[in-house]
Amino acid sequence: MVEGMKILITGGSGYIGSHACVAAIDAGYEPVVVDSLVNSSPVAIDRVAEITGQRPALEVGDINDRAFLEGVFRRHTFMAVIHMAGLKAVGESCEQPLRYYQNNVGGAMVLCDVMEEYQVGVLIFSSSATVYGDSAKMPVSEEEPTGATNPYGMSKLMIEYILNDLVQADKLNNRKFWNIACLRYFNPIGAHPSGLIGEDPRNIPNNLAPYISQAAIGKLKELSVFGDTYPTTDGTGVRDYIHVMDLVGGHIAALDSLLKREGGLSTWNLGTGRGYSVLQIIAAFEAACGHSIPYKIVGKRSGDIAECWADSSKALKDLGWRATRSLQVMVEDAWRWQSDNPDGFK
Ligand code: NAD
Ligand code: WQD
Repeated sequence: MVEGMKILITGGSGYIGSHACVAAIDAGYEPVVVDSLVNSSPVAIDRVAEITGQRPALEVGDINDRAFLEGVFRRHTFMAVIHMAGLKAVGESCEQPLRYYQNNVGGAMVLCDVMEEYQVGVLIFSSSATVYGDSAKMPVSEEEPTGATNPYGMSKLMIEYILNDLVQADKLNNRKFWNIACLRYFNPIGAHPSGLIGEDPRNIPNNLAPYISQAAIGKLKELSVFGDTYPTTDGTGVRDYIHVMDLVGGHIAALDSLLKREGGLSTWNLGTGRGYSVLQIIAAFEAACGHSIPYKIVGKRSGDIAECWADSSKALKDLGWRATRSLQVMVEDAWRWQSDNPDGFK
């Protein structure tokens, strides 16, 4: 590690954030984590230290708390920020829209304001393929029109608009302060190969992979497959599942690229470019855990689309990054994490 390689990772004790800490340390950066722990455990940071031999500083607090965040920026000099802190449950966002806008959009605004005050202009933002709404052509490229079908997705889109406005304002003000990447993640699954960190949902999982893992280990009785009449290979929904270690590798590639240029905003899809159906994911998990996983077909989930997978050629062209880990590796790593830690970080 070189002196002056400090980066801030907001949401750094969460699922993707803890893996990003490992990738950042491996790449020679010194991550400092800000996390309110609203959806994560500090044990994740202990595990990052166990994996890497380096312990990221953990600053516990809410990014909406400006005084707290200013204290963090006073204590550390950052070269860049990876902004992952946010609430992410789609259904919950429909029930509590104000909480989602306040936390996600409000939090991003406070963060950007404090970054300006402390003269840190390099920002990588965790966006989502959800900003393509339900109208996109597959595979979906960064050029497709955006839209959102729920408050969570809208909060991501609003933050993208705000970040774009910051760069537009730079042009008007004849400066190149903001240097931003919006990374649109597809469906991150899997875990670090050590089995020491992984996804640890607080309640009943919303997403497919943690649900299957918990059904596989017997914590949940059976998986509900949401619909088998979509116009896909087997009628079940198709998504672009990407190994979380590939995903965080994309952040390091983006960071390295931003640090070599002067200002601007780029948007990159982070996906594999390949889709798998729900039944294919179940079959892959069954092969990894060595037994069958109980499931039943139920009605479609409201708001779901039939299929979504990425055109990720822009990230390859601009960043030299591509996802390399296969579905088999994704589910084997997810299963190692789940079976070694049946109760997550508890
Ligand atoms: P996560 O819930 O595991 O991590 C988010 C972290 O942010 C948590 O540790 C939580 O405690 C923290 N946090 C939330 N609000 C905060 C606040 N106001 N102040 C400080 N900390 C706060 O989720 P994840 O899956 O690791 O997702 C990371 C980011 O990536 C999120 O922004 C999410 O919206 C985005 N994303 C996730 C997925 C996915 O499928 N997991 C897909 C696309 C985008
Ligand atoms: C995948 C497939 C379901 C659960 C969501 C958010 C998106 C992004 C990623 C953050 C679909 C099916 C699921 C289950 C099922 N998050 N499924 N039974 O819906 O692609 O995306 O997470 O940005 O914004 O919307 O992911 O994992 O929920 O679903 O059959 O119990 O699995 O219908 O086809 P999704 P998912």
